[in-house]
Amino acid sequence: MTDAAGVARQFRTEFSSAPDTVWSAPGRVNLIGEHTDYNGGLVAPFAIEERTVAAARGRSDSRLRVRSVQHPLEPYDGTLDDPPPTGWAAYAAGALFLLRSLGMAVRGADLLVDSDLPEGAGLSSSAALECAVVAAIGEIFDLGLAPDELAATARAVENDIVGVPCGPMDQVAAVFGRAGRVIVLDCASGDRRLLPFDPATAGAEVVIVDTGIRHALADGKYAERRHRCERAAAILGVDTLSQITEADLSGALARLPDPNVRAACRHVVSENARVTAAAAALGTGRTGALGPLLTASHRSLRDDYDVSCAELDLVVDVLLDRGALGARMTGAGFGGSVVALIESGSRDLMLEALTAACATTRQPPPTMRPARPCDGLRRESGRG
Ligand code: GLA
Repeated sequence: MTDAAGVARQFRTEFSSAPDTVWSAPGRVNLIGEHTDYNGGLVAPFAIEERTVAAARGRSDSRLRVRSVQHPLEPYDGTLDDPPPTGWAAYAAGALFLLRSLGMAVRGADLLVDSDLPEGAGLSSSAALECAVVAAIGEIFDLGLAPDELAATARAVENDIVGVPCGPMDQVAAVFGRAGRVIVLDCASGDRRLLPFDPATAGAEVVIVDTGIRHALADGKYAERRHRCERAAAILGVDTLSQITEADLSGALARLPDPNVRAACRHVVSENARVTAAAAALGTGRTGALGPLLTASHRSLRDDYDVSCAELDLVVDVLLDRGALGARMTGAGFGGSVVALIESGSRDLMLEALTAACATTRQPPPTMRPARPCDGLRRESGRG
């Protein structure tokens, strides 16, 4: 786990003074509800143990000095009067540029970030970084950001500074995650339910399998999928595809001539129905019922939404073949991780089978970690 006290110490070494404050935010795994958030739909993520820590000190001038333990060779030095940085520093320093463009009274800052979240693994390292930094900046400049505003600001950093048109899921999970709970978020209304999730009571556990294949969300595929959905919604005369019910689906599909657009619509409508079913299962403690929903979600993402890849499909197939209760790609796709519900105690066998299968196809050896719902954003330390 990233050690917040260690980050504060390193900050002192780097900048010759103590940070004003230290915050941390977790990554997330999305249990079910993929590519529905920017369609006003339902998602069911939970915050995971791995976190990003941000130590920060406010400055009286407009200088920015930003360092990352993970990117030691790419320090960022600039001022708020320069154009925002690109690359990893955009996620960290982006908050200051964004808040300033909104007319907030922010000045320069020194920032040091550290994380045990892998980048590009579909576990929202970017949202964790954005949320931890926004919280630290908010405190330093006394912006009085409520948790909802904080999550929205962090998302705006990703949308407007980094340039990825993501939905609200990841930042909401990072801010509002709670130990032992899955967040069921209605992205149209913003309504959040925290449902208890303890698969161990049903003799099961959640694991995340990282394929080691890295995606880059900014490379346009994500935006292109989003565009398919917007085209479908425009043709169907709705604001978002989540306004189409399962009962309306076949009529709606008949009105969509482009096969990709049609398949995107089918994915979003069916995925929302799967999240509704998963939430009902969570609400009544029927953990086993989640498995088939996860697997159906993967098929839809693979066949209809076309965001999976051979490496993710192989991991899902091997896990299911070895008796996993359910498995699916998680996050944006095009690489990254699989989330699976497996029987307690079967982790080693599963990993062995995966390692052997991946060796035959010459894909990177996968890594597996257990995942349980953890707490969200928190203040680690500061001056008062
Ligand atoms: C990324 C985005 C989220 C969401 C997922 C896909 O993680 O940041 O907003 O769209 O992809 O479900």
